[in-house]
Amino acid sequence: MDRLRSPFTTLIPLSLLSFFFCITNAAAFNLTTIKFDEGYSPLFGDGNVDRSPDGKSVRLLLDRYTGSGFISSNMYQHGFFSANIKLPSDYTAGIVVAFYTSNGDVFEKTHDELDIEFLGNIKGKPWRFQTNVYGNGSTSRGREERYRLWFDPSKRFHRYSILWTANNIIFYVDEVPIREVVRSDAMGGDYPSKPMSLYATIWDASNWATSGGKYKVNYKYSPFVSEYKDLVLEGCAVDPIQQLPAAATCSNKDAKLSSADYAVITPEGRAAMRKFRQSYMYYSYCYDTLRYPTSLPECVSVPAEKQRFKETGRLKFGGSHHHHHSRRKSRNPVVSGSDHQDVM
Ligand SMILES: *[C@@H]1O[C@H](CO)[C@@H](O)[C@H](O)[C@H]1NC(C)=O
Ligand SMILES: *[C@@H]1O[C@H](CO)[C@@H](O)[C@H](O)[C@H]1NC(C)=O
Repeated sequence: MDRLRSPFTTLIPLSLLSFFFCITNAAAFNLTTIKFDEGYSPLFGDGNVDRSPDGKSVRLLLDRYTGSGFISSNMYQHGFFSANIKLPSDYTAGIVVAFYTSNGDVFEKTHDELDIEFLGNIKGKPWRFQTNVYGNGSTSRGREERYRLWFDPSKRFHRYSILWTANNIIFYVDEVPIREVVRSDAMGGDYPSKPMSLYATIWDASNWATSGGKYKVNYKYSPFVSEYKDLVLEGCAVDPIQQLPAAATCSNKDAKLSSADYAVITPEGRAAMRKFRQSYMYYSYCYDTLRYPTSLPECVSVPAEKQRFKETGRLKFGGSHHHHHSRRKSRNPVVSGSDHQDVM
């Protein structure tokens, strides 16, 4: 009889099952997708930016010579940046796949940035990811959160999205909001305020990504391929150094953005977010009282979350993530300045 028992029912706790059902109930966003050439161009490693014949999807390759990346052709004052992404499988130690907005090329000392960064792992161990927020060059105040996923992101495509409005930032995995940052006056310039481009990159972060650089990229398994499709770019395209205040030129687009289905978190969405954070988040800067004795102004301490974390911002139980300090590392040859502290 034992052989008939599905590993699904024996291995997955009830809480995960209910989480699974809870998220599959969420309606898909009403999105307008574009072709690669309608919104993006290669950023680096051009030979490793592989567009599909129909132009609707693109593969980014990392081999022993170079990583690769693409960038939105425009900069946006607020927006919704989204793609269906499938990550490389098997041995991915040392690899970082990043999907993020930034204006580091234009505003070197005062850049803004919103990150989703996938951190590769040794064979048999799952991908992890982190989100981060920088505003006006706040690189000394990292706002990292790190999480596991409730699925294997290398098996099939999942949608990853960043919403940025004047009032809030929401990170999504599929239709699940996983993090919201609500702008407050106390955040000041730390809340991103200047036009940003969308970047997607794959790169060798051997010195940083997996257990603080303990595991390097193994090119025996290369090329490593990250795939993107159903690309979405919504927002107000602007010239970053234009004279007109963006608020005036962007009011229509801002209104459209704020009324989109992904701009409002429903009560069900909020419950899913709570559940995700209580089950899958394993580091939060908001609970890292060693690093920030006074928590940063946007932090909302949720008792059910907080009780799971030590004063290092790491999980009390079940987090076998060793503490490492890492050096500064830019994620591609173009953007620099982000201080990726202490990744795993
Ligand atoms: C989906 O979006 C399109 C374009 O923005 C809009 O015309 C349409 O009414 C929307 N559909 C639904 C079901 O909201
Ligand atoms: C951003 O930083 C610059 C230089 O430190 C400062 O002059 C400017 O007022 C800041 N902007 C915001 C919105 O805080």
